[in-house]
Amino acid sequence: MNRGKFITLEGGEGSGKSTQARVLAERLAQEHGITVLVTREPGGTPFAERLREAILDPATGSHSALAEALVFFAARADHLDNRILPALAKGEWVVCDRFSDSTRVYQGHAGAVDPRVLDALDLIVGKAARPDLTLVIDVPAEVGLARAALRRGTAGQPSSAAATAGAGQRKVEGLMADRFEGRDLGYHKRLREGFLAIAAAEPERCAVIDGTKTPEQVARLVWQAVSERLVRGART
Ligand SMILES: Nc1ncnc2c1ncn2[C@@H]1O[C@H](COP(=O)(O)OP(=O)(O)OP(=O)(O)O)[C@@H](O)[C@H]1O
Ligand SMILES: [Mg+2]
Repeated sequence: MNRGKFITLEGGEGSGKSTQARVLAERLAQEHGITVLVTREPGGTPFAERLREAILDPATGSHSALAEALVFFAARADHLDNRILPALAKGEWVVCDRFSDSTRVYQGHAGAVDPRVLDALDLIVGKAARPDLTLVIDVPAEVGLARAALRRGTAGQPSSAAATAGAGQRKVEGLMADRFEGRDLGYHKRLREGFLAIAAAEPERCAVIDGTKTPEQVARLVWQAVSERLVRGART
């Protein structure tokens, strides 16, 4: 049994990662009969989802970028052991909405953790599964933030209104907005630069996708990158 392929989607808030993860997984299944696990970080297992909530919960107060990074790596270790690696070993493909590049960018490039510390943690935790392909969905920070505000129906309102408006997933997304989305535009611009810097440094793993186009056009660009880099390779 061939190991499945591991695809990650990265990019700033509201760039379209979750939208494209769903569309890509459907197309891989429909057109190639591939079994696909769609998952996300932080999260993806019951333990990792609890860690996600702990980080996002306002009741846990403010934490340092290092504390956040360590929790994200703990969540990732559990996610790899219990979901990602078993799926890949069965020959399934894994499409993961955010992965270690988000930690490198949020806590490193735009945060306060020494990138060497993150690289060291990544060597320990992430070495079991390097992504075969990382799709960096690129949009200007203003575009992503406007989309995220529209999605929550809170353009012009404090994001905490959305955090308390819904239950379950919506509540957690609202908390995510409180924790990261509410930071200033400069922070979000640094996020974009960070993702583009990673893509430039690792072009064999990363494909930058123009996320400013319509969802259908972006999906075509995603499919083109996946077909060129993985589907053809998997057949040979
Ligand atoms: N190409 C697009 N053009 C316009 N709107 C889009 C596009 N792609 C996604 N959207 C919309 O923008 C919002 C954010 O998209 P999505 O949730 O996929 O982004 P995301 O990158 O997963 O965001 P987050 O980082 O907050 O999880 C959603 O309301 C979605 O419907
Ligand atoms: Mg998302």
